[in-house]
Amino acid sequence: SKKITIAIDGFSSTGKSTLAKQLAKHLGYVYVDTGAMYRAITLFAMQNGYITADYFDKETLINSLPSIRLHFEFNPELGFAEMFLNGVNVETEIRTIEVSNFVSKVAEVSEVRAKLVEQQQSMGKDKGVVMDGRDIGTVVFPKAELKVFMTASPQTRAQRRFDELQAKGQKVSFEEVLKNVEERDYIDTHRDDSPLRKAEDALELDNSHLTREEQFAAVLEMVEKVT
Ligand code: C5P
Repeated sequence: SKKITIAIDGFSSTGKSTLAKQLAKHLGYVYVDTGAMYRAITLFAMQNGYITADYFDKETLINSLPSIRLHFEFNPELGFAEMFLNGVNVETEIRTIEVSNFVSKVAEVSEVRAKLVEQQQSMGKDKGVVMDGRDIGTVVFPKAELKVFMTASPQTRAQRRFDELQAKGQKVSFEEVLKNVEERDYIDTHRDDSPLRKAEDALELDNSHLTREEQFAAVLEMVEKVT
């Protein structure tokens, strides 16, 4: 069957990356986690003091964008690609609650988006790719053969993210995680540049009451219809 582009968008912690990884593995496609790229730029801004709780020097971040190099490297032990920032593996550091608390502010900056969208388009130019994010079906690959828009209740999502962070040993309260999920959803849906929304031709998938297996089966059926 022919190679296609699969765009998976949706709110925070809806399980996009779990599904995207499963799909990529099953189909032999490349998986691209675009959230990791926004997180890496955010980490860069934090490391250089361009963003703090009450301060964001957008100008300086924008001016330093040309010097930021991002790439993914497949880790066969983990079964997925890890994020590298200027040659350094930042896979663990980009998943902290601190990065989560700033990332949506960084993702509002058009110059940041333009840089990342360009790189994402080049990574997907040969198709055979599963990409997840917020604007994949609307902006990055508006012609993707399959677009999935994932939703689940904020409570369900915060609980999943909380369990994940706890499993990684991070000290964080459920309330803090819920607040972060809600704040990111708000900023992501209200920004001027590429706000999160369902593409008209995207298929909606509410997984509040689906197991991973049920969800995977539903999406495989969608894939089979278009390949
Ligand atoms: O997917 P993840 O939750 O890791 O994404 C982190 C943040 O990066 C999102 O909340 C959003 O602000 C931003 N993002 C984006 N566009 C994408 C992917 C992520 O704006 N395509």
